[in-house]
Amino acid sequence: VKTIFGDIYRNRRVLITGHTGFKGSWLVSWLSQLGAEIYGYSDGVPTIPSLFEAAGLAKHVRSIVGDIRDSEHLSRIVNEFRPHFVFHLAAQAIVGTSYAEPHRTFGVNVMGTVNVLDALRQLQDECAAVIVTSDKAYNNVEWCWGYRETDALGGKDIYSGSKGAAEFAFYSFFHSFFQKKGCPVHLATARAGNVIGGGDWARDRIVADCMRAWRAGNPVYIRSPRATRPWQHVLEPLSGYLALGAALAKEGTVNFGPKPEQTATVAELISRLTAVWGYEQPSEAYKIVNEVPFHEATLLKLNIDKAMLLLQWQPTLSATECIAFTGKWYKDVIKDGAGADRITKDQINEYMSLAKERQQGWVT
Ligand SMILES: NC(=O)c1ccc[n+]([C@@H]2O[C@H](COP(=O)([O-])OP(=O)(O)OC[C@H]3O[C@@H](n4cnc5c(N)ncnc54)[C@H](O)[C@@H]3O)[C@@H](O)[C@H]2O)c1
Repeated sequence: VKTIFGDIYRNRRVLITGHTGFKGSWLVSWLSQLGAEIYGYSDGVPTIPSLFEAAGLAKHVRSIVGDIRDSEHLSRIVNEFRPHFVFHLAAQAIVGTSYAEPHRTFGVNVMGTVNVLDALRQLQDECAAVIVTSDKAYNNVEWCWGYRETDALGGKDIYSGSKGAAEFAFYSFFHSFFQKKGCPVHLATARAGNVIGGGDWARDRIVADCMRAWRAGNPVYIRSPRATRPWQHVLEPLSGYLALGAALAKEGTVNFGPKPEQTATVAELISRLTAVWGYEQPSEAYKIVNEVPFHEATLLKLNIDKAMLLLQWQPTLSATECIAFTGKWYKDVIKDGAGADRITKDQINEYMSLAKERQQGWVT
């Protein structure tokens, strides 16, 4: 498979903030296959191990080490690179850390986003920017319906609040500067659900916690087995971000989530993952703990009608495939010693083949 985005990204200058993180690394790998000229802006590599280093992704990208809160530095980089596309992913993205470091979390997630928007407003040339926030930006009232782009924003925990606040910053910048006729910069926010996939080593993420424990032959301790999340494989929101960037949607905001039947509880996700990993008895693989260290939403669903209508985007993988992709990545890399670079690229190609085969509307 060559590409499912035609030549839209070929030889185009693409700036990814947070390019060394979990999603950023997959995006670097994918965009390098699409022929883009990639610039990355991050404050370093966030985890050991990391997909960025394991897959040797540094060779595909000109990495700038900087703090997204440093507006002058960021602005200089944006003006020097003059990107055709921007994917803003840099964030303090861990809920647990947000309780320990609320000030830094708001600084990175809100002022970091403000700095990106402020730098973009000075660009003279055409540019499409996708500002990544989260499904957690919604005021979660634990109802049974999926959140729509027009639902109220909020967030009881610090991480969610900071993502909601980043949306407010976006809203006012959009209406103050970017909506003007003839403005060369087109942007949108993208709210995705809980992402799983190979190469995530961040702390307090359920799949990464499983892999750390199982690699050492230990059971994993689960704090909220009945919490429901719109799980999706990392290539799903990334395909949405790429489709959104390509469409240069001036349309404000788009949710990217799985189909409703893919929403599952933490316990369901893990028991299916244990099978892919090779446990015969799931009870060996995890234990449920009762104390919940911080507030966590129980029910979270995301409505994706707008992405389907506007971008003809819909998820490609079934729930089973999503878990199989994820489990296989870790199993091949950790247990069988496969190269992270190879398996990441193979999964991107397999995803692109499936998207083509299933005639996704965003495939060009
Ligand atoms: N992983 C998920 O389940 C999920 C779900 C919804 C939304 N998101 C959002 O997607 C984006 C990417 O998430 P991820 O899972 O790849 O996160 P991650 O923690 O793996 O990566 C974060 C990236 O941001 C960079 N970064 C952090 N602080 C920085 C700073 N002060 N200056 C410059 N760079 C900084 C890190 O170096 C890293 O490259 C984030 O905005 C996150 O909030 C993630």
